[in-house]
Amino acid sequence: MKVLLKAQSVVVLTGAGVSAESGIDTFRDSKGSGLWSRYNPQELATPQAFSADPELVWKWYEWRRDRARTASPNPAHRVISSWENRFKSFLLVSQNVDGLHQRAGSKKIICLHGSATEVRCTRSTKVFLKPDAFEQIPPYCLCGSMFRPNIVWFGESLPPGAMESAYERISNCDALVVVGTSLAVYPAANLVPTALQYGIPVIEINVEAGDFSSRTISLLGKAGEVLPDLDRGLDEH
Ligand code: OAD
Repeated sequence: MKVLLKAQSVVVLTGAGVSAESGIDTFRDSKGSGLWSRYNPQELATPQAFSADPELVWKWYEWRRDRARTASPNPAHRVISSWENRFKSFLLVSQNVDGLHQRAGSKKIICLHGSATEVRCTRSTKVFLKPDAFEQIPPYCLCGSMFRPNIVWFGESLPPGAMESAYERISNCDALVVVGTSLAVYPAANLVPTALQYGIPVIEINVEAGDFSSRTISLLGKAGEVLPDLDRGLDEH
């Protein structure tokens, strides 16, 4: 892959599909088997849902956190983590909250949608690492306020500065590699048209083509197979 062979500065954007081969459910797919075809995001992933039924929302995130905890990073997570050493400048921007990138060793990472391994106090907004198990659901902070999952829900702002940093790095990079995302959720999805506008090559790895695929270098296949192939190709040169 010529684009990556010459690249000094690379940004990778990931979504749920990068963890699919680790056994983590994605949210959307063309077969209608994603989480959001079985569950209603308005009832589980909005501030209104949390106000209406914090116990239900907590149980949903505890279920997902348990799934993530018992899963292991796959070859795609490992290649992405190794790219921190391959390229002179590297940044991973992830929409995932499952912690698998970090467990594969990724350190240069911006988590656009928060983390399932953290909780946030609803009063002070302080973030804490989540214990393995809570004594009660919903859990409470020492200050007496309820904890909430440290997840960005629909209708909420992303962590301050997260998109700005991602835009800044993308505007200066040699290639954007987009892995396992439907690009259905904004503002994260805006990173791709932004890169295309700057004339930056976008390599897209997905099991199916998406809205931007006609304008990207689209590699159809599983992330856990395509990324190791791509990485071996870089070694051979
Ligand atoms: P989606 O579930 O919307 O998209 C997953 C994408 O991964 C789809 O395009 C699949 O075709 C692709 N895919 C599935 N298996 C794959 C594999 N083995 N290799 C490569 N690609 C594969 O997930 P996201 O785009 O991450 O937000 O969704 C964005 C946001 O919507 C999530 O962060 C979440 C959700 O609501 C919050 O929870 C705030």
